[in-house]
Amino acid sequence: MRQMGLGVSAIGMGYHIAAWRHPDASPGGNMELSHAVRSIQAAERGLFDMYFLADGVGIRMYDEPPGALSRSSKNVQFEPLTLLSALAMVTTRIGLIATASTTWNEPYHIARKFASLDHISGGRAGWNVVTSVTAQEARNFGHEAAPDYADRYDRAAEFLDVVRGLWGSWEDDAFLRDKASGINFDPAKLHVLNHKGRHFTVAGPLNVARTPQGAPVIVQAGASDQGREMAAASADVVYAAAQTLEEARAYYADVKGRMAKYGRRPDSLKIMPGLMAIPGRTRQEAHDRYEILQELIHPIVGLSAIAGSLGDLSAHPLDGPVPEPVNPRMLSRAKILLDMARRDDLTIRQLYLAIAGGNGHRTVIGTPADIADAMEEWFTGGGADGFNILPPWLPGGLEEVVDQVVPELQRRGLFRTAYEGRTLRDLLGADPAPNRHVTARAAAE
Ligand SMILES: Cc1cc2nc3c(=O)[nH]c(=O)nc-3n(C[C@H](O)[C@H](O)[C@H](O)COP(=O)(O)O)c2cc1C
Repeated sequence: MRQMGLGVSAIGMGYHIAAWRHPDASPGGNMELSHAVRSIQAAERGLFDMYFLADGVGIRMYDEPPGALSRSSKNVQFEPLTLLSALAMVTTRIGLIATASTTWNEPYHIARKFASLDHISGGRAGWNVVTSVTAQEARNFGHEAAPDYADRYDRAAEFLDVVRGLWGSWEDDAFLRDKASGINFDPAKLHVLNHKGRHFTVAGPLNVARTPQGAPVIVQAGASDQGREMAAASADVVYAAAQTLEEARAYYADVKGRMAKYGRRPDSLKIMPGLMAIPGRTRQEAHDRYEILQELIHPIVGLSAIAGSLGDLSAHPLDGPVPEPVNPRMLSRAKILLDMARRDDLTIRQLYLAIAGGNGHRTVIGTPADIADAMEEWFTGGGADGFNILPPWLPGGLEEVVDQVVPELQRRGLFRTAYEGRTLRDLLGADPAPNRHVTARAAAE
């Protein structure tokens, strides 16, 4: 029986914008290693496929209304690869996914760091490949704004190609390490990349040996045409965002439908929409739990939650309609929010309250059976291969999912009861990543 995959998006204090104010939260948890350890160990206890860290290379300030920044905990967090190296030491099976930008990095750095994490974790590393949109990030790298859309994706595609090339620098059995003869590696099994392209000139080879997975898992989270194409060509996991089964299905069919031209099986890509799940023993208890956080949202913080996609709306009446965005920042996210506002006829206040938790992702509040029903519907209905769970706050919001929802999914046969396989690729059922030079040589023989 086909089973779903589960990830947890575990950034900072959790997904809800008031998470750090939750009565049971440690308010400085986003900078405490013990907080992250407790979260990842809960996810591993729940047999999750992956622990996923979203990221940006700058503080999260968009067109924030004044006063919003000082009310947010989302401005400081650990650098994900550094944090995941530490978390690799307190876990054994769960996948470790870090977001890293193709806009403000060099491919050699990224290839080297993820290859190192793959070794350190015994084959559990994954890279969420993103392009960086914000001016706040650009200004940390000598630019006033991010490159335009097409250019960002063009660079991202070449970036990924170079990184993959570098991961193929060494064949699996390149290292002989023969003390007697004094031969450390076989030079015939070392491949120099010599890449020259529009954005990058990279000689190689990589100074990290071939990794346990061959190539760390590739995760993609962009929903535009270019984002979908990149996912179909290269990703093992897609972190998607959809509110309705209809949208999720259309997205799922579209991305999977693009894979054949790259010679890929649809099953080798797992599409995992984000899902904010708030369980309770009764529906009332679940809603009460959610309200604890909703009541802690200051209006300025609410407005800032939508500013990243729709711009600063503080000049508009809070209880009036949502205006068309003047210059949408993230096309796909702006569209999701607008569709939501139009569909449910929401005011600005209602829109920010509606997305405060899930930030445009689907939110399900109810009993474990309600949440499992919602997941099963999308999983069996052609909308998802699994879910990236967005806990409203950490670690408690995740522990509730692990203790209440996971057993319900297992009872239904929809989720594993033990870890299988050796690497994250095995766990996900992703394609193996053979060395391209070995494959080419075998094809020539
Ligand atoms: C679900 C989702 C999660 C994302 N997570 C991040 C992130 O953690 N860091 C980041 O810099 N960009 C993130 N992005 C932005 C994308 O990489 C991309 O730059 C942006 O969505 C614009 O491209 P698109 O129109 O193809 O979605 C995310 C996008 C989506 C849809």
